Amino acid sequence: MSIDSPHPTTPRTAGPLDVERLIQDLTLEEKASLTSGLDFWHTQPIDRPGAQVPSVMLTDGPHGLRKQDEAADHLGLNNSVPATCFPTAVTLGSTWDVELVQRVGQALGRETRANDVAVLLGPGVNIKRSPLCGRNFEYFSEDPVISGDLGAALIQGVQSQGVGTSIKHFAANNQETDRMRVSADVDERTLREIYLTGFERAITRAAPWTVMCAYNKINGTYASQNHWLLTEVLREEWGYDGVVVSDWGAVTDRVPALAAGLDLEMPASGGRTDAEIVAAVRSGALDEAVLDQAVRRHLTLLNRSLPARTSPGSYDEAAHHALAREAAADGAVLLRNENVDGVPALPLDPAGAASLAVIGEFARTPRYQGAGSSQVRPTMLDDALSQIRALTGTEVPFAAGFTTTATPDAGADAALLTEAVDLARGAETVVLFLGLPASHESEGIDRDTMDLPANQVALLAAVAAVCARVVVVLANGSAVTTSPWQDQTAAILEGWLGGQAGGGAVADLLFGVRTPSGKLTETIPLRLEDNASYGNFPGEFGHVRYGEGVLVGYRYYDAKRMAVAYPFGHGLSYTTFGYSDLAVTVTGAGPTASVQASVVVTNTGGVAGAEVAQVYVGDPQAAVLRPERELKAFAKVTLAPGESRTLTFDLDARDLSYWHPVLRRWVVEGGEFVVSVGASSRDLREASSITVVGEDITPPLTADSTLSEALAHPVAGEILRAAMAQAGDAAGAMPLDEGMMVLAGGMPLKVIASFDGMLFDQSQLDALIQAANPS
Ligand code: BGC
Repeated sequence: MSIDSPHPTTPRTAGPLDVERLIQDLTLEEKASLTSGLDFWHTQPIDRPGAQVPSVMLTDGPHGLRKQDEAADHLGLNNSVPATCFPTAVTLGSTWDVELVQRVGQALGRETRANDVAVLLGPGVNIKRSPLCGRNFEYFSEDPVISGDLGAALIQGVQSQGVGTSIKHFAANNQETDRMRVSADVDERTLREIYLTGFERAITRAAPWTVMCAYNKINGTYASQNHWLLTEVLREEWGYDGVVVSDWGAVTDRVPALAAGLDLEMPASGGRTDAEIVAAVRSGALDEAVLDQAVRRHLTLLNRSLPARTSPGSYDEAAHHALAREAAADGAVLLRNENVDGVPALPLDPAGAASLAVIGEFARTPRYQGAGSSQVRPTMLDDALSQIRALTGTEVPFAAGFTTTATPDAGADAALLTEAVDLARGAETVVLFLGLPASHESEGIDRDTMDLPANQVALLAAVAAVCARVVVVLANGSAVTTSPWQDQTAAILEGWLGGQAGGGAVADLLFGVRTPSGKLTETIPLRLEDNASYGNFPGEFGHVRYGEGVLVGYRYYDAKRMAVAYPFGHGLSYTTFGYSDLAVTVTGAGPTASVQASVVVTNTGGVAGAEVAQVYVGDPQAAVLRPERELKAFAKVTLAPGESRTLTFDLDARDLSYWHPVLRRWVVEGGEFVVSVGASSRDLREASSITVVGEDITPPLTADSTLSEALAHPVAGEILRAAMAQAGDAAGAMPLDEGMMVLAGGMPLKVIASFDGMLFDQSQLDALIQAANPS
């Protein structure tokens, strides 16, 4: 398919723009115009003798192209051109497959290019802080390593096709409630270790052409006006040199936003905010060099997009549909697979389809993508019921069982329930399709429960009462609780929102055409109340407090030794895998420390399958509270029955570090570390303890340091011990024996100095601090 529909106002430039000449030649007004939108989706062009700057289109994203062909809006209300609806991020995340996600990215890039779009707005790498976030389907994980690595893979794939991406929403946009105003109140260590790491990994590895700043505030400052975030962290620390674009409508005050590092305001403001930029430069309130830099980045992006704009190319719809099916299958997670009559409930035998019944509206009317700005108009759509019938060659009977309307009509449901139970009674196996109705999760709203709708839970109970083998297939973008009903099932296949080919993928998995290999990138807790953010989410009066700190997702459940329904990293297969021969070596020390871990993974079962080996690192003794273990690396490997493969993982100092809240940098604190490898965060098969030589992490000595801290300081400690020995010898001196140290140890030095004759006076303290902190 190829659609060549350049925006009417786009001057077709013959070659690359001469960026520096344009910056010199353009008027102030023209330069300001290049830093905001023309309309909903396009940048502003310049078309006059001597200055030709094209207008390009940026559009959603992330799991399919949403190029609107009619009136534009950003809520998915108006129709868009057909495009492959790939599985949503929750599904892609659950593949844990960097290579596959990269291939999906390439396909997305081809469609973006063929449609004359310069930048696809995605991926979203925000952390799933709460299972209630209505946009969790658009995010990869509760963990920053997998979010960052899969985000990087998608970016690399898309950008390999000559079009750009926009990693979003930077940063700490972890809820939909009040998303345009709320201040995410997060301490720096938590930001760095949890909420920024995914962005950092993806941005530094894959260099997205654009970064989209979030709507929300971070510690009181809008992301769009946050100089620390957009300039100090993003550009100065991470070396980012692309364009920062606002989320649609995220700019509150344009001049401070530009000064903070926001290059492009979207959508158009009708010239109003361009005039503000011009006035600010004229009055001297804004340095013109800041505007020039934003223009430079924008023009550079236009040059990057030139080859694609001049030759859009085409794509193969059928091949993309097949890729969508592969990705949906590999992202589905087999949560449970119990034995019934001595054999696992799944896979089903296609030859036994005569005794099968399919129940649940979602089998016929698939729920395959989320609502909001990411909503794609698919090129085709597979439903599971037709796919099961096609695969088995049997007209498998079906009953809807429930309606998917937000407020199910009890009367109608009663009739549907009776029909479904009658069907189930005669079946040996029921495949029951349950999930979240579209109205339950969407961009713009958060859920208030993690539970499946009551009418579906009631249906399951009624069906399970008459059939011993009930296989539940779930369709949902955010995790749902399974503990209230899972004992009534023989198997649970979490299909997530699998995109336009999700129905076929489910059929493939049910009948063993493919072996499940997806794993959870988020914990499914026993109950919503167990989640770390419970009580702090979604905040009130414009503030949401990230009170759980770094203990997000599995980090919290592990710290609290809490039972969960399914742990982070969990996912079953139709085969089994063994782990052996973990070998871990350390080289270097402190900031140059590195660790290599190798392990042998063997397919110990009877069919081919893929395993996701996960490497976790724990730092049992540290000066700060650290999670018990954290994911640092992973690899997906496909193995034939009996086949073994040695996997090698290279970890660097950063993988051992924490963000030091006082030194305000990453530090490797020396001591013991535990490297474990396994099939999930709670199915660790091999572990090894290593000793790493750390770096000096002594914080600077100040008048606020305590006596104990001063005694532990390499320089001050020595001086103080000598002084204390001398004081001990002096007649009448207050002895600092063990008993006194209990009291005095926690005293700030300035308090001790204020006590007449205690150990040192103010001028001696000044000298001590100077000796301890030579400049
Ligand atoms: C969303 C973004 C999206 C943009 C354009 C915003 O409301 O938060 O993710 O890319 O709209 O549709």
